[in-house]
Amino acid sequence: MNDRASVAATLENSPFFMPFSMNRQFKKHPRLLARAEGMYYYTPEGRKILDGTAGLWCVNAGHCRKKIVDAVARGVATLDFAPPFQMGHPLAFEFAERIAPLLPKGITRMFFTNSGSESVDTALKLALAYHRVRGEGHRMRLIGREKGYHGVNFGGTAVGGIVGNRKIFGALVTGVDHIRHTHDLAKNAFSRGQPKHGAELAEDLERLCQLHDPSTIAAMIVEPVACSAGVFVPPLGYLQKLREICDRHGILLIFDEVINAWGRLGKPFAADYFGVIPDLITTAKGITNGTVPMGAVFMKEDLYQAFMTGPENSIEMPHGYTYSAHPVACAAGLGTMDVYEEEGLLTRVGELAQYWEDAAHSLRDCPNVIDIRNLGLIAAIELAPRAGAPGARGFEAHLKAFEQGAYIRTTGDILAFSPPLIIQKSEIDQLFGTAREVLKTVA
Ligand SMILES: Cc1ncc(COP(=O)(O)O)c(C=O)c1O
Repeated sequence: MNDRASVAATLENSPFFMPFSMNRQFKKHPRLLARAEGMYYYTPEGRKILDGTAGLWCVNAGHCRKKIVDAVARGVATLDFAPPFQMGHPLAFEFAERIAPLLPKGITRMFFTNSGSESVDTALKLALAYHRVRGEGHRMRLIGREKGYHGVNFGGTAVGGIVGNRKIFGALVTGVDHIRHTHDLAKNAFSRGQPKHGAELAEDLERLCQLHDPSTIAAMIVEPVACSAGVFVPPLGYLQKLREICDRHGILLIFDEVINAWGRLGKPFAADYFGVIPDLITTAKGITNGTVPMGAVFMKEDLYQAFMTGPENSIEMPHGYTYSAHPVACAAGLGTMDVYEEEGLLTRVGELAQYWEDAAHSLRDCPNVIDIRNLGLIAAIELAPRAGAPGARGFEAHLKAFEQGAYIRTTGDILAFSPPLIIQKSEIDQLFGTAREVLKTVA
């Protein structure tokens, strides 16, 4: 499989239906990654590719870290599987104890899943069930935000706000509404860090409270920094306002930190970074450094305690997955926490953020750039769309970057950057240097 033309010929009729991909384009022009180490991927023909996206926003400690690989190998050889319902295994409890001290103040309990999508649907169900067990079953509505991404299960798709991800899947879940997004280039283009304008957009939740009556609303879910739809950093004061409105009306606030958590903003969680504590936090990805699928929902003590009522011989939460707290995932997670702790990765971004911001914004003079935005170790460059062909310019940039040795993800015409947190300054230069070269040639 070394020659690219012969690889393409083999894949053209492959039975593999690739997720979130242009299947026909890819199978004609495959971009395969055969192995990885540290900051780099390697293609089957041996080309070295700088990973500008931490895989898919998940490989925070870099690739194939020995400690994690060894933990997984040991884990799978010791206990390949254990049933999680009415049974347990030591690593699940150990992993929970290990994570607990890292959680934002007041958040104490956790439920394990296998992905971000499962975490989101679990959190939405927990929110509905919490109100129900407390006698407020009339709180049935779930509120999301335009341009939000909360995975692909039914609940997450419904509260999500990306039209293309929703439109072909029918009516989704009923009782869902959305507040406005915060993307405002007219006021905030080229903001460094949090934009100054737009805190008042949180008031849109108040509007929905007036429309539906707050007593019908169970929860509001947002990504603190919305990443997948194109990197939208919350305006200063915006998340604080959302918290206030939720508190005023007894609405649970869920932060979807599938990407934001695990050091991406220089703190273990975005909730710490912004100083806003939600009622529930969803996560996945970096919890195992992307090595083994896993997710989690973290919650405040009173949420957990609301379920711990009634007869002790009842199942408090009729929800869970065959692979919840899978022993190999827990082993990977414990290895991951070791690496995060030993290398200070959950706070390292604090030292790098200014250099990163300057490097990203140095591309302002490149052709077709209409915005650059950043926070922590996240950045986006938004390009003007080609007339009549939205997304084409961005996708060409992605392809050309890969040819030039850097993996950069694009959403439409937005280039997103989110490398492993072990990146060195020279590699930041390399990443944005490649992006500069690419942008010069993407007319
Ligand atoms: C904020 C957010 N929520 C949920 C998800 C879904 O996670 P997964 O793909 O692991 O199901 C993602 C994935 O990127 C995400 O960014």
